[in-house]
Amino acid sequence: MIPLKSEREIETMNTAGKILSGIIQKLRDAVAAGVTTAEIESAAERLMREEKVVSAFKGYRGYPGQICTSINEEIVHGIPGGRILKEGDIISLDVGIKYKGFYSDAAVTVPVGVVSGTVKKLLEVTQVSLEKGIELAQPGNHLFDISHAIQVYVEANGFSVVRDFVGHGIGTKLHEDPEIPNYGVPHTGEILKPGMVLAIEPMVTQGTCECRILSDGWTAITKDGKYSAHFEHSVAITENGPEVLTA
Ligand code: MF3
Ligand code: CO
Repeated sequence: MIPLKSEREIETMNTAGKILSGIIQKLRDAVAAGVTTAEIESAAERLMREEKVVSAFKGYRGYPGQICTSINEEIVHGIPGGRILKEGDIISLDVGIKYKGFYSDAAVTVPVGVVSGTVKKLLEVTQVSLEKGIELAQPGNHLFDISHAIQVYVEANGFSVVRDFVGHGIGTKLHEDPEIPNYGVPHTGEILKPGMVLAIEPMVTQGTCECRILSDGWTAITKDGKYSAHFEHSVAITENGPEVLTA
């Protein structure tokens, strides 16, 4: 069952989304060679406190961090710690907050200084694949139209979509129905309706889409060690089309 939100609730989720995108913008500016992921985490904690919002991730199924920071071959759920960023790395900043009873979730992948040409392309293709998915988040479309658009764009550019992690509905819970895979058959899946709010989050790899989980129980990495990128927005479906709450 996909919970529908009222216009008023979507208004609140939009405010949450705008707060979240402001936080992510500031964290993006904190990314530099020589900085540790623990320092980015501290900045996130301070910014959330200033905005009077709380982390959606801390304590979620025992997750220990305020945010997720996933570097290079790390796909998702990297735990902030002592790892030092260096020139040429990429880091995904995945941040979720709770505001007035509603969750908001978004992620960007940021280059540290200058990255190689292929890695730059990986970031661009992942970001554009998210936009392609969002374009199809329209009333009357099918859920997997979104999934298919992401997959087709990514694969046409020679990269792979991760299958072990998916996007999700979002609202009074961080993860609500439906699951939103980043691959799928067009014109299948639930028919999209105004009031649905979806966290769409392509995770894209340079090589294999196969992953494994590190011994910390959280960090997912690519099996071949090649780089992976992740972009995410929380998107409301309205009568006028998609509204990107975390823009
Ligand atoms: N954006 C990810 C997701 O929606 C981050 C979850 S981190 C967790 O699944 F700690 F909350 F699991
Ligand atoms: Co998410």
